[in-house]
Amino acid sequence: MSANEKRQAGEAAIRYVENGAIVGVGTGSTVAFFIDALADLKDRIEGAVSSSEQSTAHLKRLGIPVLDLNATGPLNLYVDGADECDTHKRLIKGGGAALTREKIIAEASAKFVCIIDSSKQVQLLGKFPLPIEVIPMARSLVGREIVKRGGTPVWRDGVLTDNGNWVIDVHGWQIADPVGLENDLNQIPGIVTVGLFARRAADVVLVGDRVI
Ligand code: A5P
Repeated sequence: MSANEKRQAGEAAIRYVENGAIVGVGTGSTVAFFIDALADLKDRIEGAVSSSEQSTAHLKRLGIPVLDLNATGPLNLYVDGADECDTHKRLIKGGGAALTREKIIAEASAKFVCIIDSSKQVQLLGKFPLPIEVIPMARSLVGREIVKRGGTPVWRDGVLTDNGNWVIDVHGWQIADPVGLENDLNQIPGIVTVGLFARRAADVVLVGDRVI
C-alpha cells in the first residue's frame, strides 16, 4: 500500500518539472520512482543535481545528465522524500544518510516538493529517530550534548556518509520546537548536519498524488 503511494507521489511530482529545467533530486525509495518518471522527460530537461551517490548512479543509468551545483547556481525545483512530515511541512530526513547534500540542495532551491506516503505524516516530529551527521572525532562530544538535552544517541555503526562522516540517530525526542532545536544543534562543534528540515521546510507536500 505504502509502496503504491510512494510511486504515486514520485510520478505526481513530475508536474512541477518545467521544460529546460535543472532539477534537484533527493534520495530514497520514493525518489527512485521520481527518477524513473523523470527519465521519460530527459530530452526536455537540462539535467539534475543529485543529493547522493545512490541517486547519481540511478540518474546516470537512465541517461539523465548529473550537474554540479557550483556550476548550475540556484535551482527552481528540488524533489525529495522524508522520514516524517508535520502539519507545517517541517521534516525529519536522513534515514538514508544523505541528509547533508539534501539540505544543501533544498537551501539552493526556490521550491521544495516533498514526496511521501501517508505513514510519514505526524502531528509531532520525533518518533522517527533524528539523524545527525557528525565529523567522526566529534561523535562522543556530540553524544554527550544530546544526552544533556534529554535524547538518547545511537551511533549508526558501520555507516559512512557520502562525505566520509558518521551518523548518530537520536531517540526519545518529542520535537515541539523544530526550528529552535535545529538552531541549537547547529551550534555544536562537530555536527555537520541535523536531519531536521524546519528552518527550510518543504513548500509543497505530496502524499501519494494528493497535495497537502
Ligand atoms: C535520505 O537520507 C532520506 O532523507 C530520505 O529522503 C528519506 O529517508 C525517505 O526515504 P524513503 O523515500 O525511502 O522512505
